[in-house]
Amino acid sequence: MTARILEGKVFAAQIKEEAARGVESIKKEFGITPSLAVIIVGENPASQVYVRNKHKTCEELGIRSEVVTMPENTTKEELIAEIDELNLDKSINGILVQLPLPAAIKAHEEEILNRIDPLKDVDGFHPYNVGKLVTGSPTLVPCTPAGCIKMLDFAGIEIDGKRAVIIGRSNIVGKPMLHLLMSRHATVTVCHSHTHNLAEVTREADILVAAMGKPKFVTADMVKPGSVIVDVGINRNAPKKLVGDVDFDNVKDIASAITPVPGGVGLLTVAMLMQNVVKAARLQLQ
Ligand code: GUN
Repeated sequence: MTARILEGKVFAAQIKEEAARGVESIKKEFGITPSLAVIIVGENPASQVYVRNKHKTCEELGIRSEVVTMPENTTKEELIAEIDELNLDKSINGILVQLPLPAAIKAHEEEILNRIDPLKDVDGFHPYNVGKLVTGSPTLVPCTPAGCIKMLDFAGIEIDGKRAVIIGRSNIVGKPMLHLLMSRHATVTVCHSHTHNLAEVTREADILVAAMGKPKFVTADMVKPGSVIVDVGINRNAPKKLVGDVDFDNVKDIASAITPVPGGVGLLTVAMLMQNVVKAARLQLQ
C-alpha cells in the first residue's frame, strides 16, 4: 500500500478560501478591512522568509498587512512599547511577534507575548486564549495545530473515537493539539523525550502527530499500518534542505495518509493565520 499524500497546498487553498469569504463579509457588514501587524526583531533569515510569506498571503486575501521591522539590539522595553501602541490602534486587528526573538531578549519572551491584547493575539499564545482552549471555548487557537485539524476535516479523515498520539509537548504545537483532538472526541496520548517504550505507544495511533523537531525520527516500525501521519517537523539538515520528523520514504508505504515536508503542514500555518485575523477582527467588532 502506498499512502495518500496530504498536499498542504490543496488544503491551504481551502482554508484561505474560507478566510477570504470572512474578509468579504467583514468588509460588507462593518465597512472595515481586517488588518495584521507583524513585528520582526533582528535579521533571522528564516523569520524574514516567514514574515514575507505572511505579508504576501494577506495581500492575496484582501487583508491589510503592516510589517514592523525592529533592529537586533531592540530592548524589551522598546518592543513592549511597540506592542502597547498596536494594542491601542483600533485600525489593527491582529498582532504577531515573529519568533525566535534575538538572544538578548529571548528570556523575556513570555512577558513580551503576554503583553499582546488577547483579542488581537492571532498566534493564540496568550494565557487567556490558552485557557479558553483548555476549558473548551476556543477563540484564537495556535495556527499550526488548528490548521492540521482543518486539513483532517477537509480530507474527510474521522477524528471522533480514534486513538491519537502526539510526539512533542510544546506550547505551540503539542499541547494545543492535545486539546483540539480531545475536544473532537479522540483518545489522545502525548509522548515526549522521557516516554518509555515510545514505539509501543506510537504503534497504537490511528492518527500520529510528529512535533518534536528531530529529523526523520518516526520510522516505519513505529507506525500502525493504515494510520494517518501528520508531520509538523521542519528541520534543516543541510543549508537549503528541509526534512520532517518522519522518515517519509519508508513510512508512506505503511500509512494510509501522510503529510510531506516540505509542502505539507507548513503551508497550513499561514493559511490558518489569515482565519485568525478574520476571527480577531470579529471579536473586536462584536
Ligand atoms: N516562528 C515560527 N513559528 C511561529 C509561529 O507560529 N508564531 C510566531 N509568532 N513565530 C513563529
